[in-house]
Amino acid sequence: MTIIVTGGAGFIGSNFVFHMLNKYPDYRIICLDCLTYAGNLSTLAPVMDNPNFRFVKEDITNREAVYKLFEEEKPDMVVNFAAESHVDRSIEDPEVFLRTNIMGTAVLMDACRKYGIKRYHQVSTDEVYGDLPLDRPDLFFTEETPIHTSSPYSSSKASADLLVLAYHRTYGLPVTISRCSNNYGPYHFPEKLIPLMIANALNDKPLPVYGKGENVRDWLYVEDHCRAIDLIIHNGRVGEVYNVGGHNEMTNIDIVKIICKELGKPESLITYVADRKGHDMRYAIDPTKIHNELGWLPETKFADGIKKTIKWYLDNKEWWETIISGEYQNYYEKMYGNR
Ligand code: NAD
Ligand code: DAU
Repeated sequence: MTIIVTGGAGFIGSNFVFHMLNKYPDYRIICLDCLTYAGNLSTLAPVMDNPNFRFVKEDITNREAVYKLFEEEKPDMVVNFAAESHVDRSIEDPEVFLRTNIMGTAVLMDACRKYGIKRYHQVSTDEVYGDLPLDRPDLFFTEETPIHTSSPYSSSKASADLLVLAYHRTYGLPVTISRCSNNYGPYHFPEKLIPLMIANALNDKPLPVYGKGENVRDWLYVEDHCRAIDLIIHNGRVGEVYNVGGHNEMTNIDIVKIICKELGKPESLITYVADRKGHDMRYAIDPTKIHNELGWLPETKFADGIKKTIKWYLDNKEWWETIISGEYQNYYEKMYGNR
């Protein structure tokens, strides 16, 4: 089995590469990643010498290069993690989101059509469903919830999902889609809520909470997401969408307070800043379908997962300190000023 994993130098993709090489020692995993600001080759250092692993630095929108790779490797499957993934960046500058998230998906699927494939899997997001009100805790996103996006990021991901389903119906491409809630864990880029707060708290810097911090996200430990995708690509039904979520809803402010407590830092570091434009209030996934069909359940409780994650950031300071001292610093200063 040869699998092309795009975006494998990013947060979830790298965790998925490790999961697959570990669990299936006879699989060949090809990571296709152009190393944007969010891609980090040092993350993949532990597997670079594995004979079943190959890293290819290339952009998924480069049709010629993608076709060449398919010709060389004749993959059985493609799992597409490659994306621009940060909502705030999409609000600042949507264009690259449209290029990578929509056009890149089309190029990959065209390659699958041209060379044949057993499965194309699209890693999507619960953000395609828009948001839920805070005063209706009885409501959850199911696979039947209408697409109703808020940000340029979620709109680009929803567009890609529609294309994936269209390629299935029109060309019979064997596709699956997973729509997952917020992930956390090792190798999470420190522009996202949890790693940003851990890094800032460790540096005794202010913890910038948007608006009142009341927005709710449904947090899932990254390894649980990787197991879900593993199950879907092997046993999921072609043409189907599977929601993935941990039934673990928390407000942003509660998350930040937990991080302060775990690190022994004062809550006085918390600073309320201007709200995100179009900020989604609440995400909450109903994972009944993947549970009933594929037997998937989250295994890591948040209380354990956040401890493991904080320990990872403490043990791997070099990884994130290199990131926050580099080009990322310009972005940070633009977003939060010189805090
Ligand atoms: P990330 O930003 O950490 O990593 C994205 C990776 O894609 C990087 O390695 C980057 O270099 C690569 N990439 C970007 N543009 C590319 C291009 N044009 N060609 C080749 N490679 C390119 O993202 P993540 O958080 O790991 O998210 C991975 C996927 O999962 C995304 O599709 C995202 O929409 C989806 N998702 C993320 C979450 C989450 O909580 N992080 C939840 C649900 C779904
Ligand atoms: O739900 C899945 C999505 O989760 C993925 O599709 C996205 O790729 C991923 O980035 C994530 O999107 P969010 O916007 O939910 O994640 P983020 O970490 O950017 O923000 C989480 C919440 O925390 C959100 O309500 C905004 C808030 N926030 C974020 C940052 C970076 C803050 O209050 N302060 C911050 O500095």
